[in-house]
Amino acid sequence: MRSSKDFFRPLAVGAPQPVTEIPARPSRAIHFFDPSNEKMAAKVPQMVGSVDVLLGNLEDAVKADNKEAARAGLVRIAKETAELGGQSGPTQLWTRINALDSPWVLDDLTTLVTEIGDKLDVIMVPKVQGAEDIHYVDRLLAQLEARAGLERPILVHAILETARGVANIEEICGASPRMQGLSLGPADLAADRRMKTTRVGGGHPGYLVRSDPDPDQPDAHRTTYQQDLWHYTIARMVDACAMHGIYPYYGPFGDIADVVACEDQFRNAFLLGCVGTWSLHPKQIEIANRVFAPSADDIRHARRVVAAMGDGTGAVMLDGKMEDDASLKQCLVMVELAEQLAAIDPKLKAAYDAVEVSA
Ligand code: GLV
Ligand code: MG
Repeated sequence: MRSSKDFFRPLAVGAPQPVTEIPARPSRAIHFFDPSNEKMAAKVPQMVGSVDVLLGNLEDAVKADNKEAARAGLVRIAKETAELGGQSGPTQLWTRINALDSPWVLDDLTTLVTEIGDKLDVIMVPKVQGAEDIHYVDRLLAQLEARAGLERPILVHAILETARGVANIEEICGASPRMQGLSLGPADLAADRRMKTTRVGGGHPGYLVRSDPDPDQPDAHRTTYQQDLWHYTIARMVDACAMHGIYPYYGPFGDIADVVACEDQFRNAFLLGCVGTWSLHPKQIEIANRVFAPSADDIRHARRVVAAMGDGTGAVMLDGKMEDDASLKQCLVMVELAEQLAAIDPKLKAAYDAVEVSA
């Protein structure tokens, strides 16, 4: 056991001081790009400012023969794109490294931290199984940060994509002060759990409940309701992250053409407590930016409750509905998120500024 007094000491001599809080930086869409794909990489500089996070992917979806090119491409892009990454830029720079049991990961970490560690905000670690995986990355990052002379620690994000990872979710979230958040990895998770869906995220028409038969017409049509395969896992992620002051995210939605179902899945995650999602195609950025922000109507209602609740205690009736200390807290979640987003998104700021609050 480690003493709580040691938790915020650097894990290597000369490494930066660990953070005591994870900043709430907007990260509605984490847009994945393959740095070894020249066409994709060329588009990165012009995307800065239009998406909250750009993520250079080194893991799955990058061919084994391209792993080194992807790593080198990410270093080059980070160095050449002045506004990308670091604490003050409009778009954060994240990476997804290769899995901890792969032959590439040691070079991923060594190269990225020493070459572009000052620009990298978050490192996403795939296929995390337990706290021991985070401890390994934590110590190694501290050693590399000390070597690179970095002044702020790079944060760590774990993908939840193994059954063991789900079983160990709370200890993963609390394994290091670097832990920034969790993403759902529905494809790997489905395979690891031996689920019988071959889709990347999203629902499945076979996962449903059916209304009872009409006793007088047992053969009549019975309405079915499709259920969300990912509800349980997302809800567990949200609780574990909230408990540790870190952030939960939906993951990939593979059916790029189905923008309607994608929006529904993103919205379910937003309503349950997620702060953002992955984007695999530019059209998913627009969906995520819209969905992971409170609507003007939400903000109108939230501000009304805040105004009506005065010192924040007691109960009031608004439009026939009871509001009290607890519903005020729900409204403050919305208002705070709107303020954070308005600070970086002029269109949202204008929409929220235009909201008029009637008594
Ligand atoms: C993402 O990495 C997934 O496996 O779904
Ligand atoms: Mg995966």
